[in-house]
Amino acid sequence: MASSGLLPPSPPGEPDAWSEKDFGCVVGFLRHQIGITLEPHRMGLLQARLRSRLQARGLASFTQFFEQALRPDPAGWGAQLLVDLSTVNHTSFFREPAHFTFMVERVSAWLREQPTSPIRLWSAGCSSGQEPYSMAMSLAEALPPHALSRMDVWGSDLSLEMLKVAAGAIYNARDVQGVSQARLRRFFLLGRGPREGSFRIVPEIRDLVKFRHIDLRAAPWPVPTDFHMVFCRNVSIYFSDEERQVLLNRLAQHIRPGGWLVMGNGEILPSVPPMFRKHSPSIFQKED
Ligand SMILES: C[S@@+](CC[C@H](N)C(=O)[O-])C[C@H]1O[C@@H](n2cnc3c(N)ncnc32)[C@H](O)[C@@H]1O
Repeated sequence: MASSGLLPPSPPGEPDAWSEKDFGCVVGFLRHQIGITLEPHRMGLLQARLRSRLQARGLASFTQFFEQALRPDPAGWGAQLLVDLSTVNHTSFFREPAHFTFMVERVSAWLREQPTSPIRLWSAGCSSGQEPYSMAMSLAEALPPHALSRMDVWGSDLSLEMLKVAAGAIYNARDVQGVSQARLRRFFLLGRGPREGSFRIVPEIRDLVKFRHIDLRAAPWPVPTDFHMVFCRNVSIYFSDEERQVLLNRLAQHIRPGGWLVMGNGEILPSVPPMFRKHSPSIFQKED
């Protein structure tokens, strides 16, 4: 009758249908089928969130969820719900700002030298969309206005819930905290009436970005193979060393010679990925 700190104990004498033991099959499924190893400090929160979602669907225990949803359909709604609830989706506009300064100062100069080709950018692991929109905004500021029509920006994530938010392109005041007034004026529309207090990305930026549901652990990736710049920041924290190596090799296949790969500042790679040279600890350029 174990129960997590976040779950209320069962009434005396009644077995706890939502026990930690019962939750073990969910943790095993996450690890073996989805490749996510849940850190102990996140277990209680996942248990509590999952439990309320399952109760709303009339499921009475984690075992029932495993037997009725996960086991018969390992790629179905149950697995997607687990992904949505267990991934860390923290992001923000212009997060790790040096990467956007780098885009404005260095990458835009390189792009100006290639005036005919589409400008391809990818935010791999884009969460709720702030990253690909920030990439598009940075280049919109740095390049002449006609360059917008050449921009082809992709955002992808494992979480369908996050992709829905990303495609909606509507954020709240907390989400835009830290965005400069100049950028708020240029790139956001203020909500009115029932949308009072919300901030919607302007169509000229929103329409540049297409979102796709992609698991970066699973081949193939239905995205172009000639990106100028790929951000894959704060995603491989979930990966084993071996998986990270495979990820980097595959990302290299999607970046054109001379193009750029940007990782999160906190993800120190043990070595420079093959086919890249190091520009800074988190920025790599694909060899020509
Ligand atoms: C912490 S957020 C980072 C968002 C953004 N890149 C940033 O740095 O602000 C990590 C995102 O990676 C996604 N993710 C985790 N594993 C993934 C995988 N195997 N394939 C694709 N996306 C994944 C999560 O759903 C989450 O939205």
